[in-house]
Amino acid sequence: MSEFEKKILEFKEKIKVVKNLPELNKINSEIFGKNGIINLEFKKLGSLSPDERKNFAASINSSKKELTEFFSKKSTEILDKEIIEKVNKEKIDITLPEKDFKIGKVHPVSQVIDEISCIFSEIGFSVEEGPDVENEYNNFTALNTPENHPAKDMHDTFYLDQDMKTLLRTHTSPVQVRTMLKGSPPFKIIAPGRTYRSDSDQTHTPMFHQLEGLHIDKDINMGHLKGCLNYFIKEFFEVEKIKMRFRPSHFPFTEPSAEVDIGYRIENNKIIIGEGDKWLEILGCGMVHPNVLKNCKLDPNKFQGFAFGIGIDRLAMLKYGINDLRSFFECDYRWLNHYGFDPLDVPTNYRGLSR
Ligand code: DAH
Repeated sequence: MSEFEKKILEFKEKIKVVKNLPELNKINSEIFGKNGIINLEFKKLGSLSPDERKNFAASINSSKKELTEFFSKKSTEILDKEIIEKVNKEKIDITLPEKDFKIGKVHPVSQVIDEISCIFSEIGFSVEEGPDVENEYNNFTALNTPENHPAKDMHDTFYLDQDMKTLLRTHTSPVQVRTMLKGSPPFKIIAPGRTYRSDSDQTHTPMFHQLEGLHIDKDINMGHLKGCLNYFIKEFFEVEKIKMRFRPSHFPFTEPSAEVDIGYRIENNKIIIGEGDKWLEILGCGMVHPNVLKNCKLDPNKFQGFAFGIGIDRLAMLKYGINDLRSFFECDYRWLNHYGFDPLDVPTNYRGLSR
């Protein structure tokens, strides 16, 4: 047996009794390192004849392979053992109370979206979603918006390309178009989501939230719209009676169109919704324009219905007494802690929305 073979055997014996990884790594460098036995053995090749070299190299390589396998087996064995020991040692008492426990809060906008979804689901509306990045057709053209309409101006709309074909949706109304194009009537949906306009002051932020409503069927009329909104506003503000008025207005996608105001008064610096002689505009609505129905492959002689668009942030400000819209999007933990909601208090129709 050569010196090299003897050493290999010795190393195998050493590896067998190793107990931890540092020890194993030390042996590793004694074998495979720059001055390890394998390299030293390879250095002898230079003094051998070509024929001898072949056999000699083959035998070193086979020893090297054997040792490598031996090594990796041992290292897996040690690692497995260490993991099992660690798992057996580590015990977590899950009944212990957490020390620095901070409970997260639900943002008022999310809360209001949940509340509104609850209210409309009670009368048969389902929730739809559309993308924030929209095409010009769904956002404007299909909604009967004329080419020269001011809303299409660069001042109001964030376009995402030179051709002004892709944009950040300026309202949630394109979800009407998407819903009607992909399904068949009747449609009874609400679509909450983010919307974008180039605008910023105390009551406007470049990103804000809207909720679109759409009900299309045979024989739907303005009376249904009025009943639906009256029910919604009463439920939302959690009041018995609500003073509400429809004011004639104009939107390209509805005919006739109206804006809805609700009555309020200020008492001890607090706003009381539903009573009083002041009026506050809260939404736009109307009967869906026949051109919109045609663009969505519906026959206006067979189907008709109403649509409405509500500013969600505005409703949240009113209901929860928040007076600067910008604070909604500042991600200030103290603000959220004050105005946010308990995540376990999910709004429901039977248990109550906000209390
Ligand atoms: N899309 C309108 C806006 O952003 C709101 C609106 C008004 C939506 C009337 C409607 C509607 O569906 O019928 O100002």
